[in-house]
Amino acid sequence: MSDEFILVSVAWPYANSDIHQGNVTGAYLPADIYARFHRLQGNHVLMVSGSDSHGTPVTVKAEEMGVSAQELFQHYHARHLDLFQKLGLSYDLYTHTDTENHHQVSQDLFMSLLDNEYLYRKTTPQMYSPTAGKFLPDRYVEGTCPVCGYQHARGDQCDNCNTLFESAAELKNPRSKTDDTALELRDTEHFFLDLPAISDDGLSTWLHNKDKAHWRPQVIKFARNFVDKGLIGRAITRDMDWGIDVPINGFEGKVLYVWFEAVIGYLSASIEWSRNSGQPDAWRKWWQNPDARAVYFVGKDNIPFHAIFWPAQLLGALGLYSDNRNSHLNLPYDVPANEFMNMEGQKISGSRNWGVWMLDALERYDPDPLRYYLTAVMPESRDSDWSWRGFVERNNTELVANWGNLVNRVLNMTKRYFKGIVPDPGPVSEVDESLLQAIDEGFAAVASLYDACTFRLALQECLRLSTLVNQYLEETSPWTTAKTDLTATGRSLYVALQAISGLYVLWAPILPFTCQQLHEMLGSEGNLFGKQIVESYQEASRSHIALTYNGQSAVGTWLRKEVPSGRQLPKPKPLFKRLDASIADDELARLKS
Ligand code: MF3
Ligand code: ZN
Repeated sequence: MSDEFILVSVAWPYANSDIHQGNVTGAYLPADIYARFHRLQGNHVLMVSGSDSHGTPVTVKAEEMGVSAQELFQHYHARHLDLFQKLGLSYDLYTHTDTENHHQVSQDLFMSLLDNEYLYRKTTPQMYSPTAGKFLPDRYVEGTCPVCGYQHARGDQCDNCNTLFESAAELKNPRSKTDDTALELRDTEHFFLDLPAISDDGLSTWLHNKDKAHWRPQVIKFARNFVDKGLIGRAITRDMDWGIDVPINGFEGKVLYVWFEAVIGYLSASIEWSRNSGQPDAWRKWWQNPDARAVYFVGKDNIPFHAIFWPAQLLGALGLYSDNRNSHLNLPYDVPANEFMNMEGQKISGSRNWGVWMLDALERYDPDPLRYYLTAVMPESRDSDWSWRGFVERNNTELVANWGNLVNRVLNMTKRYFKGIVPDPGPVSEVDESLLQAIDEGFAAVASLYDACTFRLALQECLRLSTLVNQYLEETSPWTTAKTDLTATGRSLYVALQAISGLYVLWAPILPFTCQQLHEMLGSEGNLFGKQIVESYQEASRSHIALTYNGQSAVGTWLRKEVPSGRQLPKPKPLFKRLDASIADDELARLKS
């Protein structure tokens, strides 16, 4: 491995609310760990995402808050940028879906599907509000449930009996949620994606291809089942004004459906990143090169959109941005979707204020301990649980007592016994050599765990190796030999320093901030991963703020670098803090207040 092109595609958060720990552990953090790992491997990583700014999730919230959709999305977009920087999510570009570029690419993809005859028009009756003078999305419709008689059923679902409706037309006595006036059905024409045709023309074959052995079983099973049951055409336009115009005469006042265009963001963001970096065609190396891998990090509720509908859009858009009429852009190599995280045994919920709001938590805790715990309990194969007690305990017994304490002891003893100068090992023994050999073997083991997106196991393996070094210290006991045999102390500390110099590289994808600190405390220069900046720039008619990243310096450093004898190390500082047990109660009390 190395010299591969890896597209790290990360779910686009709605710009309508703050981000909680379930969002982070579900998609954003695993993507970041994977991206950082591949950068250290020397691969060419492009990690993209942005704020999902359109759709009813944004307009409904904007109306509740009494602001425009534009204002609402900009408010949350700015907060997402702030959070991702503080948490160290190393997007090469974090943009949003209201850029001119994204509008253009979305319309291009739409036109390509139309040219390839994978779109058709259909007229259906939809709820129309005579008082508002417009069609209303299902979310804005309320009425009596035809199944249980509940009077406040929503247009898409009855919250009383959980019946899902195909259309709001099934409700009795439909009313507008906004002004409580009666609604009527009127005909409206929309574009539909011909999923049955795309399924026959390649989607089904692609999903059943044997090359998916590395996919998580729950993801690939779901997708295959879904397609095997038979797909139906899906409407991809809506009667709304906040969104991307449908580029067809007669469709004024209609926009592309948010789920149709948001996923196109992976492509448009790659193109935007290329333009910004002055190589307008660079994106093709991730999208048109058959050896490139595109990995999509999403939560399980996003599986159909990434394992079925987005691949269908890509397959249908034959010839898009290519001289070859029959070629399509790269399909996902993997969709390692995570399950959900609960908190203290209950579902995380914005409306009940039940969750860890990450920007808020970062006021009280450092990013690496949060990343550590979120990796340790990541819901990779089943739903998991955040507990504040668990956070404190893992921090204290693993991060501080095992890894942090190892680093502290070794650096402090080097300072105490050798004035911070890396000692000369003299002749090394078998014990010394076998420790370093175990660390070096760890590189291959941990690499394959990161590459397989089994991050919990990668963390466990790093911890196991750290324990080995702690045991080595107990056995060689450099604090005891210091009184009688300073050469032995020097040898032991030299070997432990080399082990740590390997270990922090293995930890770095999970703990980037403290590993950078340690990198410097071991006397190495430069930035392990490059720097991230918030950049603001002007498109023809819009100004635009995004998060960009310069990761050049990470390239190819997946190895244990020797810390040479004679090097003067800078003054060591502790990497982690013990947390008081009482914070678990404090945090729970804070939530309830
Ligand atoms: N905003 C949506 C969500 O959070 C969609 C995410 S992924 C996208 O679930 F690619 F479709 F945008
Ligand atoms: Zn009902």
